[in-house]
Amino acid sequence: MIYGILLESCRDGICHTYGSATWQRVVEELNFESESFTTLGRYDEVLVERIAECLAEALGDGGIDFYMQFFGECFVTFFTNYGYDKILRVAGRHFRDFLLSIDQLHDSNRFSFPKMKSPLFHVTEEDENGAVLHYKSKRRGFQQYIIGQLRACGHRFFKQEILVRVQDDLSSNEYSHIVFRVDFNNTSASKTKRILPNPKLSDVTSSTFFKVRSFEV
Ligand code: HEM
Repeated sequence: MIYGILLESCRDGICHTYGSATWQRVVEELNFESESFTTLGRYDEVLVERIAECLAEALGDGGIDFYMQFFGECFVTFFTNYGYDKILRVAGRHFRDFLLSIDQLHDSNRFSFPKMKSPLFHVTEEDENGAVLHYKSKRRGFQQYIIGQLRACGHRFFKQEILVRVQDDLSSNEYSHIVFRVDFNNTSASKTKRILPNPKLSDVTSSTFFKVRSFEV
């Protein structure tokens, strides 16, 4: 299950970019009971991908990946409009600081979204041209969504063009684990501040980690 804010941001983005008639079409095709979502309501997470599939079919000018990226961008616009960006704006001056603080960003929104089971992000390597970012979640199908989110955050909050590609997919049947290479101007981070390449991480399997991590409440 997932909070309605994700779905409501898709609806908002579709109405703004493709018009409310297109959204109406999605509502009919997918037999939604209502035309909008409650931001604090809980919904099936596969709906995000279903809506992307439906748009790809209805509009025929982009595939599912294209619309998943678009929804990631819509989410950034939406949470900014709702004022959730304030915490992000104090997370750091540079894009690398933002990358290091995505988990904290989710944690600090736990009061607003108490049932949140947020994904996990961590940076394992960085150099002056960017960083390697790991994403872990029990959910599937969000990698293109993340590419959209990262690019939109780079553009909106750091005025930077960000290039993101999937470097590796280490997912298992139980969880998603995607490794992204994120290219951006990372010369601003002083060498002393940089993460050491290939840091020694404790020898805990992801399934054990997910069992003990507090978001599983
Ligand atoms: C202040 C800004 C943010 C807020 C308020 C926020 C809030 C949320 C909420 C409420 C969910 C749904 C979780 C659930 O229902 O269990 C979610 C999911 C998610 N968030 Fe954020 N988020 C923010 C920023 C970000 C950023 C910057 C990223 C990554 C670049 C990100 C990545 C994701 C992803 C990928 C999911 C989908 C769920 C999954 O992968 O398991 N979020 N977020």
